[in-house]
Amino acid sequence: MRRIVPFLFGVSLVLTACGGAAPEVGADADPALAAGRTIWTRNCASCHRADGSGGRGPQLNEDRVTGRFPDVADQIELVTNGRGSMPAFSGRLSPEEIEQVTRYTREVIAPSK
Ligand code: HEC
Repeated sequence: MRRIVPFLFGVSLVLTACGGAAPEVGADADPALAAGRTIWTRNCASCHRADGSGGRGPQLNEDRVTGRFPDVADQIELVTNGRGSMPAFSGRLSPEEIEQVTRYTREVIAPSK
């Protein structure tokens, strides 16, 4: 316990420094969005920041991603196959998971508050 507490404190500091927590999904929302949030936190937030405000990868929040991808199929294609420094996720996530994380970015991250 004596070691784990400072360790957890350190981890939470690092997470805070990286843009805080990913936006929450309402309890009554489609479960696919909650699944998408978990996928986002594990696979995408490191580059795009937890809130989607951008880092190594471009900003996705404040309607950016929906503006750039009016057709959701194009966004799914990009996440599946990658582009430039954006890794392809076809080998790491199933098509269903890619759809869930894409919906999370469009329906929870992107909308301007
Ligand atoms: C290693 C860092 C990295 C990770 C991890 C990463 N991305 Fe990216 N992402 C990028 C970069 C860099 C670009 C810009 C690619 C380019 O056009 O050259 C990008 C572009 C994108 C775009 C297009 C943005 C635009 O405006 O054109 C979307 C959507 C996207 N990423 C979603 C995701 C999702 C969803 C995940 C997790 C499943 C993810 N990214 C994980 C680095 C990353």
